[in-house]
Amino acid sequence: MKFDTAFAPFLGLANLATVFAHGAPQPAAAIARREALVAEAAKTYSSCAKKIKSREVLERRDANTQSFVNMYLESRGLEPNFDKRVESDATCVLAPEEVEGPYYVSGQLIRDDIREEESGIDLLLDVQLLNVHTCEPLRNVLVDFWACNSTGVYGGVAAQNTVGLTFLRGIVQSDNDGVVQVLTKVPGWYTGRAQHIHVRAHVNYTIANDKLQGGTVVHTGQLYIEQSDLTEINALAPYSNNQNPFTLNSEDFIFTGEANATAGYNPYIRVTKTGETLNDGLLGKITLVLDPDTAATPVDMGFPGGNFTGPPPGGFPTSAPPAGETTNSATTTANL
Ligand SMILES: *[C@@H]1O[C@H](CO)[C@@H](O)[C@H](O)[C@H]1NC(C)=O
Ligand SMILES: *[C@@H]1O[C@H](CO)[C@@H](O)[C@H](O)[C@H]1NC(C)=O
Ligand SMILES: *[C@@H]1O[C@H](CO)[C@@H](O)[C@H](O)[C@H]1NC(C)=O
Ligand SMILES: *[C@@H]1O[C@H](CO)[C@@H](O)[C@H](O)[C@H]1NC(C)=O
Repeated sequence: MKFDTAFAPFLGLANLATVFAHGAPQPAAAIARREALVAEAAKTYSSCAKKIKSREVLERRDANTQSFVNMYLESRGLEPNFDKRVESDATCVLAPEEVEGPYYVSGQLIRDDIREEESGIDLLLDVQLLNVHTCEPLRNVLVDFWACNSTGVYGGVAAQNTVGLTFLRGIVQSDNDGVVQVLTKVPGWYTGRAQHIHVRAHVNYTIANDKLQGGTVVHTGQLYIEQSDLTEINALAPYSNNQNPFTLNSEDFIFTGEANATAGYNPYIRVTKTGETLNDGLLGKITLVLDPDTAATPVDMGFPGGNFTGPPPGGFPTSAPPAGETTNSATTTANL
């Protein structure tokens, strides 16, 4: 199969499902569940937006975020004077089933700083999890994060000679407000994919030796950053040293297959500088609405998810979306 041409029409999971149905678990059920979730979340949101946006809830959320940022600034010897209000709930982000991708590695440490020695811009990722059925915060969910470094390499991957390395991987438990805060780096990029961060939510787990044991995955997804913000970030080293072919969000076949602001699914992290310059760090905020009661079915299509050993011949697809394809820029504003 010639992947470059074969992928040209791949602008949605439905198309992927059709083409990859052979030899891989049938993802139709997962797609149906995703659509049902999106519909339910849209309905729930319209009925509970008032509660989420009540002044009390927002003020508590802001205070929580501000203390996260100020602790970080203090740890860097910077003035802990972050008092911005970042509208965390202006963007309703739904949490559909999604391609797991080839780079998930289980058994990561539960820790809230996953930067290790990686260079690049610090990203203070502040995520709130809400129950799709009730809009209530989801407490005690373990959220697994993983991403590549500024030059597009993942830790823990045989194909990249990084087995045993754990940089930019880790798991954080949500607090009583359903909030998960992790200190990571703005990811770089690799051939065929836009810059993205993977997330996976686990429930019904136990914890032993700071590691997740057992449990059920209820969501796997990917988060993105607005292109206009990335343009500013990528002009700086070490991102500017990344030699991999670059893919815009609007050219990314997973992003374009899923992002749909009209349907309420907006996977953009809203980013805001924590200090004077980008190198002082970025706060990234996003709300994920998910169903904690049903086990997720990762969409494993053999390629590009699951048992993946490298880019296909000719690289990943880089097809442009059709005219009119949403990039969601209308629903979020760049804050840089
Ligand atoms: C990204 O990770 C790889 C593997 O550890 C490493 O060789 C490379 O130098 C890292 N990139 C940067 C900018 O440090
Ligand atoms: C986005 O969602 C809306 C509402 O559900 C739907 O009508 C529209 O077809 C979707 N657009 C794409 C590109 O899938
Ligand atoms: C978690 O455990 C409870 C109690 O055993 C069970 O009812 C629920 O279905 C489980 N959740 C998932 C997503 O499996
Ligand atoms: C991936 O590998 C696992 C273990 O070797 C196997 O059980 C699974 O069926 C494979 N999946 C695909 C899509 O080939």
